[in-house]
Amino acid sequence: MDNLEIVPDVEALAHAGAERFVALGKQAIRTHGRFSVVLSGGSTPRRLYSLLASAIFAGHIDWEHIFVFWGDERCVPPNHPDSNYRMAREALLDHVSLPAGNEYRMRGEIDPAQAAAEYEHALRIFGGGNIPRFDLILLGLGDDGHTASLFPDTAALTESRRWVVENYVDRLDVWRLTLTLPVINAAANVLFLVAGEGKAEIMRTVLRGPRDVYPAQFIRPTDGHVGWLVDAAASRLL
Ligand code: 6PG
Repeated sequence: MDNLEIVPDVEALAHAGAERFVALGKQAIRTHGRFSVVLSGGSTPRRLYSLLASAIFAGHIDWEHIFVFWGDERCVPPNHPDSNYRMAREALLDHVSLPAGNEYRMRGEIDPAQAAAEYEHALRIFGGGNIPRFDLILLGLGDDGHTASLFPDTAALTESRRWVVENYVDRLDVWRLTLTLPVINAAANVLFLVAGEGKAEIMRTVLRGPRDVYPAQFIRPTDGHVGWLVDAAASRLL
């Protein structure tokens, strides 16, 4: 059973997420000298990111030894309003001293297949040729059960060989870039951040409904932990 923590609201969710980020970061740096974290896109994590950049956590995070990746990206330029990279830059990375070489951006502005191949190559180098075991992967949950850009009935969901793919999402008529299940399920820690009344139904379905129907239900690290940080509104039906 995944670890589920219910918090009152989005602010509490952000604080709880930031505290887990700090704790896992200290543990990873202490045990293997670096903290590799995969950021989620969407809107839910924005407050968490801005908290990590705030005075509350200043001095508690050793950015020199942190390596930042993205779980998915929209196929847009980095300064586009829809860019997950832009959101993380504005909320967090523009305000902390992460070394430039420690940031691995998915290049949404180039050909999707080329961007996916390029990112997978970067992961191969980072992992010394092996599939990277990220210390923490942050994920969101869409109301259709998608996570990262693993959408229902899309090719990325069944990809078992590649680590990063371009994924055409018919429902949105867009291309996305996304980590695949092999990489996500190699993680040491996965943390879902879910908030809002609009997620109550899908939360119940994903946690209490039939298994292996929705993409988020396929997140099962082979040797890692899955946590859920869910606010009261999104956990109303649990
Ligand atoms: C994205 C995300 C996606 C997101 C969910 C939830 O690029 O949009 O990675 O998986 O986490 O759609 O988004 P919200 O946090 O905005 O509800």
